[in-house]
Amino acid sequence: MKNNPLFGKFDDVMKSALRVPTDNKPGSFFGGKAKLKFADMFCGIGGFHTAGAALGMECVFACDIDADCRKIYEHNYGIKPESDICRIDPASVPDHDVLFAGFPCQPFSIIGNRGGFSDARGTLFFELAKVIEAKQPPALVLENVRLLASHNEGKTLQRITEVLTELGYHVEHKILNALDFGLPQKRERILIVGFKGGASGFNWPDRVLPMIPLKELLEAKPDPRFFVSERIRRKRHAEHKAKVTPSIWHENKAGHISSYPYSCALRAGASYNYLLVDGDRRLTPRELLRLQGFPDSFEIIGNDSTIRKQAGNSVPVPMVKAVIERVIHARQAEAQTQRHSKAA
Ligand SMILES: C[S@@+](CC[C@H](N)C(=O)[O-])C[C@H]1O[C@@H](n2cnc3c(N)ncnc32)[C@H](O)[C@@H]1O
Repeated sequence: MKNNPLFGKFDDVMKSALRVPTDNKPGSFFGGKAKLKFADMFCGIGGFHTAGAALGMECVFACDIDADCRKIYEHNYGIKPESDICRIDPASVPDHDVLFAGFPCQPFSIIGNRGGFSDARGTLFFELAKVIEAKQPPALVLENVRLLASHNEGKTLQRITEVLTELGYHVEHKILNALDFGLPQKRERILIVGFKGGASGFNWPDRVLPMIPLKELLEAKPDPRFFVSERIRRKRHAEHKAKVTPSIWHENKAGHISSYPYSCALRAGASYNYLLVDGDRRLTPRELLRLQGFPDSFEIIGNDSTIRKQAGNSVPVPMVKAVIERVIHARQAEAQTQRHSKAA
């Protein structure tokens, strides 16, 4: 990382995306507490954590079943996540103000088997619901793949909403795209927010940041191991001519190649050459993390394929940060309204 010629530059760009807003001083959250606390369920490499920390929040609990995720999480954030949510006693989770969860998307994913709740993995949402029931955090921010919205004719999302409503939450959802939050990655995800007892003033974030140009995010001298073989390179260039440089070439399942000045959604289980920079090379681990909005201060441990999987599973940091910010504002406004009505 120290040899990275872009070191510092990308972080400068990200600083504007991750800066702590001036009206969110510690002490003003949720009507007066010193620091907001969050629980990071299914924490992965901590996309939610990075966003929450940028807003001055404190992590009190994290869990992930994947040992590599737990290792890199502890290394970067100094918190040792618990493992399988199914083995966690919900009552043992410390009290927190906001619960974050990018619950596993396999059962709902466009690339998955579309088994939904009938798939055993789908029940992880119910494990999450058990923690919510036990801890009753004032606010929730959940994330999943876009397809969740239409899965099983909308019944899956309806079921999730019903469960959260039964637990006393006012629930809203929206599909957001990382491209609208400064990142050169087309990544559409459903965000679900929940407010215990309501938060009438909640608004989803509008388009907030212009896209960081791809060239600012790409490493100047990537290691030769990221370049594809001459045979693959020739084949790609024979099939496709890009209109812009640099661009990310995307090969779909049918073998059709398209290219854009941004990346298609990173995927945890994609084929090796699914995305190629200018048709010549794979993205480096640092570039993958940058595409999700992680600052360069996030240290990489683990091999290329581990990071590829972890980055493909992560949430886009500036996107969830913008949502968390709105959630905090809505809770603050609600707390103020309640204080006024008590005083009246
Ligand atoms: C979509 S990813 C969430 C990524 C995370 N939000 C981030 O920013 O990196 C889902 C995570 O759930 C974890 N997971 C799957 N089953 C789990 C279980 N039973 N208990 C805890 N974590 C689990 C996976 O290892 C994966 O890291």
